[in-house]
Amino acid sequence: MRKKIIIGNWKMNKNRKETINYLMTLNHMLNKNHLLSDNVDVCLAPSTLCLIATNTYINRGGLFAKNSLRSLIIAAQDCDSEIAGSETGSISFMQLHDEGINACIVGHFETRRNHHLTDEQINKKVISLTNNNMLAILCVGDTLEQKTENLSKQYVLEQIEKGLKGVIIDNLDKLVIAYEPIYAIGASNPVEVLDIEDMIKTIRNKLAELYNQNAANSIRIIYGGSINSANYIEYAKSDEIDGLLIGKSSLDVTSFYDISYGVSQALATKYPTLGNKYYTLKQKEIEAISKPIPEPKKEKQEVESIIKNDIDAIEQTKESAIDAEENK
Ligand code: PGA
Repeated sequence: MRKKIIIGNWKMNKNRKETINYLMTLNHMLNKNHLLSDNVDVCLAPSTLCLIATNTYINRGGLFAKNSLRSLIIAAQDCDSEIAGSETGSISFMQLHDEGINACIVGHFETRRNHHLTDEQINKKVISLTNNNMLAILCVGDTLEQKTENLSKQYVLEQIEKGLKGVIIDNLDKLVIAYEPIYAIGASNPVEVLDIEDMIKTIRNKLAELYNQNAANSIRIIYGGSINSANYIEYAKSDEIDGLLIGKSSLDVTSFYDISYGVSQALATKYPTLGNKYYTLKQKEIEAISKPIPEPKKEKQEVESIIKNDIDAIEQTKESAIDAEENK
């Protein structure tokens, strides 16, 4: 069975303070309930500027970051495929890796459009990430025109074939494919489950052709586009849809938590042996998570001070490097 994955893509939203508040609230919710990570991977993709604060909070937040929050996967929203170079404004996959960020969304429609990315450039990113043990979340999708002309499958399969050229079979466990029809991104309704399942099967057949059936069966293929806490459940129940990529609804911590926890519960209902511990959400706790959560001040101060220490340490390293250079 493929483990489902829920990914929150914050796009160009939230500053550092809002990021930390979100994580604190999520931590608080997870603290109250059982963790999600047994049958669901949960991943957040904050803006580049907030990646380090997110990582610091999750991994260095001491006692405050509960185990369930520590299992959160942090993803960047894009990266460059080169280790380093003259690419003003870009961030390399290796720079992410060096900061402990080991996952990255690649070829999201908005990035393809805004940066005029070709499938060949996207392919290089997938190769760099997977070769370096980083998770590549490869997005593919069709336009409304292609759908109207019955060309969706042809275009999506072309993106798959080009995007995965040269990606070796041993690295496929570092790949998630996100099918995101462009007309469903930021729209009012997601695409029908049956249509998504049909596309996912088509993608999986292509993967079997490119690799082999076993390899194809092991790759997670997820859906993204207008999913929210009111409509996610039928998508979560599908055996074909291995998870969800959520934009707008992931900005609200309660919605994101509800979807992640709900997917976990849907799985638990279907596979009772996996699920026993997910039935423990009591009415009182449900009420508690639906109320606004007061900001835990002490926790906030601790995190602020960890971040400040990090900045001080970086400054000190810089100063010592300059001193060493001058004393040469
Ligand atoms: P949406 O975005 O959930 O706001 O439609 C999905 C995405 O862009 O990944």
